[in-house]
Amino acid sequence: MGVKVVETALRDGHQSLFATRMTTDEVLLALPELDKAGYHAIEIWGGATFDACLRFLNEDPWERLRKAKKICKNTKLQMLFRGQNILGYRHYPDDVVDKFCEKSIKNGIDIIRVFDALNDIRNLKTAVTSTKKYGGECQIALSYTTSPVHTVEYYVELAKEVEKLGADSLCIKDMAGVLLPETAYRLVREIKANTKLPVELHSHCTGGLIEMTYLKAIEAGVDIIDTALSPLSGGTSQPCTESIYYALKGTKYDSHLNEDMLNEAAKKLAPVKQKYLDNGLLNPKVLSCNPNILKYQVPGGMLSNLISQLKQQGQLDKLNDVLAEVPNVRKDLGYPPLVTPMSQMVGTQAVLNVIAGERYKMVPKEITDYLLGKYGKAPASVNDEIRHKIIGDQKVIDYRPADDLKPEFAELKAKYKDIAKSDEDVLSIALFGDVAIKYIKQRNEDLIPTTIKVDA
Ligand code: CO
Repeated sequence: MGVKVVETALRDGHQSLFATRMTTDEVLLALPELDKAGYHAIEIWGGATFDACLRFLNEDPWERLRKAKKICKNTKLQMLFRGQNILGYRHYPDDVVDKFCEKSIKNGIDIIRVFDALNDIRNLKTAVTSTKKYGGECQIALSYTTSPVHTVEYYVELAKEVEKLGADSLCIKDMAGVLLPETAYRLVREIKANTKLPVELHSHCTGGLIEMTYLKAIEAGVDIIDTALSPLSGGTSQPCTESIYYALKGTKYDSHLNEDMLNEAAKKLAPVKQKYLDNGLLNPKVLSCNPNILKYQVPGGMLSNLISQLKQQGQLDKLNDVLAEVPNVRKDLGYPPLVTPMSQMVGTQAVLNVIAGERYKMVPKEITDYLLGKYGKAPASVNDEIRHKIIGDQKVIDYRPADDLKPEFAELKAKYKDIAKSDEDVLSIALFGDVAIKYIKQRNEDLIPTTIKVDA
């Protein structure tokens, strides 16, 4: 049996290390070897890969997926999306979520991993139902974070709900890399004891301790782990696939990966890494360990965002004040996990609270919406006084936010009928608006062919 492995180099690897800039050619480069290496799945698609294709690479993300599928005959392809947010930053109506699941699966995705920033299971319901409807495998990822409410017991209760909802498996998604070895052990053991779900662990090496966490999770019976091939591993990315392979080889946890294929694939991707080191997109800084994330309990990406926000305002000397304010804002807001979009929202509010000299004097619209319940249910109770200061007597919604949204796919399809060549194009426009329109217009003018027709 042993431990199954999901290869993340082609999605999270380059997303974490150099802003998701691998081109489709680079993504496909080592795919024949990876396909023969014996992975449980290869992660290839997600919000940032989709966005970067359209925005920076002038590439069609759907085309990347179709080409990958053509190569991968043995291994499942996996993607990640944010529940009702899909790949964007707002809630989408159910018909768009449904169409997106349908088209992702038809174009080549086998496993859809979905998560909600607040772990509000209601925001995942449509994604699960639609994924199953179109024959895909659906995994629900729980956003892992630390707070007085985010205990092992809290996650076990969530895991039971995940099972009830009909997910095929569960992932503990430690986006910040703050899951401690002993906690991982208890978490995996308790979830396995209380559900029948296969459990996967996803984390980041940022804080320097995650290989230890992986080993404890493996000892506790985790079924699947996420690792990245050596050129795209370590630092802010996942633990190295080959190293984990050697660590487990010959033990009862043996991953049974094909060593030669791993090495061949790594050889092909090494020059890709070098290219991004040379052009500066891969900053060597992100490759070294940063224990500050364990101290402040903020993800590495959020830390660098805070630094750049403060730099722009010439207030970098306030960094420690802002880092001290982050936990206060989180507490006021009912301890949202610091993952997109909450990490940006909490970070911005902490910066505003410090810079304005008065807490919640300036409040971004997203925070107001959050307090109105438009993102879903906060993990713990929100500070009433602060909520009242910001939203006054406006009513907080207590139902699933997407229940308020009218279908919009057909309308978008009609509106963009002259530009969009397929339902896939309509989805790109639904998710990325002007960025997608600009790309599609350009593509149409340049007559870049879309090779495979999957509109069946
Ligand atoms: Co990740």
